Amino acid sequence: MRLRKARNTDVPQIRALINEMAARTDQDHQHGHMLPRSLTELYEHIRDYTVLIDGDRVLGCCALQSQWDGLAELKALAVADEVQNRGWGRNLVETVLAGAEELGVDCVYTLTNKMEFFERLGFAPINMRELPQRVWTECTNCPKFMVACDEVAMTYKGRRPKQTFIPIVGVNAPAAAHLALGLTPRNHASGPMNTDGHQPPFGPPKS
Ligand SMILES: CC(C)(COP(=O)(O)OP(=O)(O)OC[C@H]1O[C@@H](n2cnc3c(N)ncnc32)[C@H](O)[C@@H]1OP(=O)(O)O)[C@@H](O)C(=O)NCCC(=O)NCCS
Repeated sequence: MRLRKARNTDVPQIRALINEMAARTDQDHQHGHMLPRSLTELYEHIRDYTVLIDGDRVLGCCALQSQWDGLAELKALAVADEVQNRGWGRNLVETVLAGAEELGVDCVYTLTNKMEFFERLGFAPINMRELPQRVWTECTNCPKFMVACDEVAMTYKGRRPKQTFIPIVGVNAPAAAHLALGLTPRNHASGPMNTDGHQPPFGPPKS
């Protein structure tokens, strides 16, 4: 058995491995419980994946997704039941962390319900609100969002994500923000309305 970067042809097996675990019940929480992944998502992000293989069989996987300035998510970690507790989960995580260093990513986070497992591997919990809003997109797609979330955010070595400032743009932006983006500030009061009754954020296109 060995680890290697995933190939396009691994997708059906990765999907089967992840989705079988995702379909497990709360009673099987210790051994399963992860978000299902669609074929589209896997094919689009296959370069993020490392797999554990035995001949043609995919027995484990883990992904690293670059998401923001200096920030990447370690996700979709799964090791097939038949080879669990042999160090492959650790091996997958450590390989993915080495990849993060090569990528120049300082802060690797994961959202997990296997806190103890990740603590053994050097991760420490952080407040999820410290993660940039950009990464919450995945949460908002999750059926458990705001009702039954059982995951904690953890970062490798307890590192903090950079706090980036995104200037406000759009109708309520100050004229200075428009100017900074090379847009002409417009007079909101006199501009044309959209069909929904709202004013467009900027003036009519320059001819
Ligand atoms: C979590 C999972 C990836 C662990 O894989 P594994 O190959 O069994 O883990 P390893 O053998 O590498 O274990 C590494 C260490 O973590 C410990 N460990 C393993 N599973 C653990 C768990 N569920 N809780 C706490 N510690 C755990 C091991 O005892 C070992 O400790 P040690 O290094 O002190 O001896 C695997 O159980 C799995 O695929 N679970 C289902 C999917 C899942 O929950 N994925 C995580 C989603 S966030």
